[in-house]
Amino acid sequence: MLSGKRILLIVTGGIAAYKTPDLVRRLRERGAQVRCVLTAGGAQFVTPLALGAVTGDKVYQDLFDLTDEQEMGHIQLSRDADVILVAPASADVLAKMAGGLATDLATTALLATDKPVMVAPAMNVRMWQHAATQANIETLKSRGVTVIGPEEGDMACGEFGPGRMSEPLDIAQALIDFFHGGQPLRGKHALVTSGPTHEPIDPVRYIANRSSGKQGHAIAAALAALGARVTLVTGPVTLKDPIGVATVHVETARDMLAACTEALPADIAVCAAAVADWRTADAAPEKMKKDGKGLPALALAENPDILATLAAPGKNRPALVVGFAAETENVVGHAVAKLKKKGCDWICANDVSPETGTFGGDMNRVHLVTGSGVEDWPPQTKTQVGERLAQRIADHVTAGADATGADAE
Ligand code: PMT
Repeated sequence: MLSGKRILLIVTGGIAAYKTPDLVRRLRERGAQVRCVLTAGGAQFVTPLALGAVTGDKVYQDLFDLTDEQEMGHIQLSRDADVILVAPASADVLAKMAGGLATDLATTALLATDKPVMVAPAMNVRMWQHAATQANIETLKSRGVTVIGPEEGDMACGEFGPGRMSEPLDIAQALIDFFHGGQPLRGKHALVTSGPTHEPIDPVRYIANRSSGKQGHAIAAALAALGARVTLVTGPVTLKDPIGVATVHVETARDMLAACTEALPADIAVCAAAVADWRTADAAPEKMKKDGKGLPALALAENPDILATLAAPGKNRPALVVGFAAETENVVGHAVAKLKKKGCDWICANDVSPETGTFGGDMNRVHLVTGSGVEDWPPQTKTQVGERLAQRIADHVTAGADATGADAE
């Protein structure tokens, strides 16, 4: 079931590390090749000798070990894996991963990888529930990291609640799902737009909007987690590129259209970008000066509509085109009209009135309009919206659909 799969298992500090020799055994029984990185904390709970014995391989521990770096550098360690599994994943390693720190061999390998990453958290219930840990988990999910567990139960510290590492058999099953059943979009290409566009007025000034890219990036990461090959075309944002997603950075609406067209053919397109409807008709080649002759007038020109272009009939039209509608009143009504006008199959209506905090914030409330009707989703994090939309797309794609985008019965 995991035949030929190369798993780099990173064992960090926590009492659950005592289960890792059994985890290695379960993974190897299923055909996987397992290589271990053991952190200093992990080595307090399980010995390199034990992990070396069950993997039949060297256990890597030190970033600055000259022999190890000559034989198998930290970059090579992550390149030689099909997936990196962090189990147990302590609160500390999750925080370092979210923050992009590289303080030891484990975190350096994690930062250096472009391979899928899975984490099986294990910690005290209060550490798990702490806002910092939850924010780190959200960040990691939004970058495409798969989180296994944790489970609820009695803990070594005497408390009860979520925080126990998932059992080795369940972790092995999560890997099997990941490589097989858990990847319903494997073989599909998804194109996602995200973020704002910047339309230059002159070399230093531009027209923009408040989009952060959080929603579009979360959708791209969630589609990748379901196995899709994802091209993310993003306007200027401060977010990191999601792991395992081919990200193209653009500035203007016209650049975004060119990058999207270049990325075709695609099976799925999701347009979450807040594309500027207008640009300046003639951007000044030099910085405009106050010359005392009165206020300059900005003449505007209409930008191309990327969603409408992708949704237009043609041989390269993705089978499923999903738009977003950013509205401030009559949210669903305007979204339905937009769906018809732009020719997309589904549209995610969201209220972007300032009091909702949708632009730039972490939460979103979406009404998904499909050929079958309107689904009112509850307010949830943008990561959750991304996961739900990706799953909805996967269900639709695997069930087959009619030309209106309605799901097959
Ligand atoms: O980025 P965040 O801070 O996370 O915020 C998320 C969001 C609010 C930006 C996102 O959820 C959202 O609503 N995106 C669409 C924003 C928008 O431009 O909506 P619209 O109603 O103006 O456009 C309708 C659709 O046409 C959108 O799919 C848009 O991407 C697309 N469009 C619009 C204009 C244009 N020239 N080309 C387009 O493709």
